[in-house]
Amino acid sequence: MARRSLSSLRNVMSINTLKFDSVIEPGSVDEFLVTQIDPDRLPSHIAIIMDGNGRWAARRNQPRVAGHRAGAEAVRATVEAAAQLGISYLTLYAFSTENWKRPRLEVEALMGLLREFLRKELRSLKRNNIRFQTIGREQALENAVSREIDRARRETDANTGMVLTVALNYSGRSEIVEACRELARECLTLGRDPSQISELDIEQHLFTKCLPDPDLLVRTSGEMRVSNFLLWQIAYSEIYVTDVLWPDFRRVNLFEAIMEYQKRERRYGDVKPAARSSLIAANMK
Ligand code: FPP
Repeated sequence: MARRSLSSLRNVMSINTLKFDSVIEPGSVDEFLVTQIDPDRLPSHIAIIMDGNGRWAARRNQPRVAGHRAGAEAVRATVEAAAQLGISYLTLYAFSTENWKRPRLEVEALMGLLREFLRKELRSLKRNNIRFQTIGREQALENAVSREIDRARRETDANTGMVLTVALNYSGRSEIVEACRELARECLTLGRDPSQISELDIEQHLFTKCLPDPDLLVRTSGEMRVSNFLLWQIAYSEIYVTDVLWPDFRRVNLFEAIMEYQKRERRYGDVKPAARSSLIAANMK
């Protein structure tokens, strides 16, 4: 197939992908892949379980922290690429409630990297019109981390582009338990009828009440697990697992995930429209 440059595709592609015009090398794999993506069927919300930092470091005989540091660079590249592509919501699993079990030095390094990321990348978040927020139990984080989070949240609050959510001290099960507790309190104090509690009520008591459910859940490093991430919210998400270790994840890997997503048929428990019409036709005989 003859290679066409991004600019020659202006007529057939939406404005979203054109933001890459100045940052993708003509004739590169990235350019080829981005032209395969249908800009009208982008996943609105992509959630990522960033896994494999430790293995990346072990393969290089480096300490685990070196893997996390390289992972922070993958975060930077992925956030920028998702925003430029026109993804509306990107949610990254950076630290689970279970991660407190790791050695103290590793936990401290992870918190330090997060602070450093927010300090260094705030300007780029603003430039890319990204709104930053976190989900998880923030109270348990050390003050220095909370301060940096607060600042990033405040300073990007008016942005209207992609919403970047970082899950920190997050546990999907605890989130559901907490939602149930709040609803139980409302039944006791406001006299609500428990039999009237709906799925929507639960959704509105989750950390993610202002986010749509993820369309696409990506996990790196080949593990087939959801690891207590967004348990309620991923009920109908398309899952994409890649063997790429998180520190090696770049724009091209994001494009591959989206291309795979665009091949899937989302039925939400229904049947294909064609199957429905053939059933109707059979019943009319
Ligand atoms: C999982 O790899 C990764 C984490 C627990 C932390 C993710 C953190 C970062 C990518 C860096 C900082 C984050 C931000 C948002 C700037 P693992 O250590 O479990 O890898 P392994 O399974 O190979 O041991």
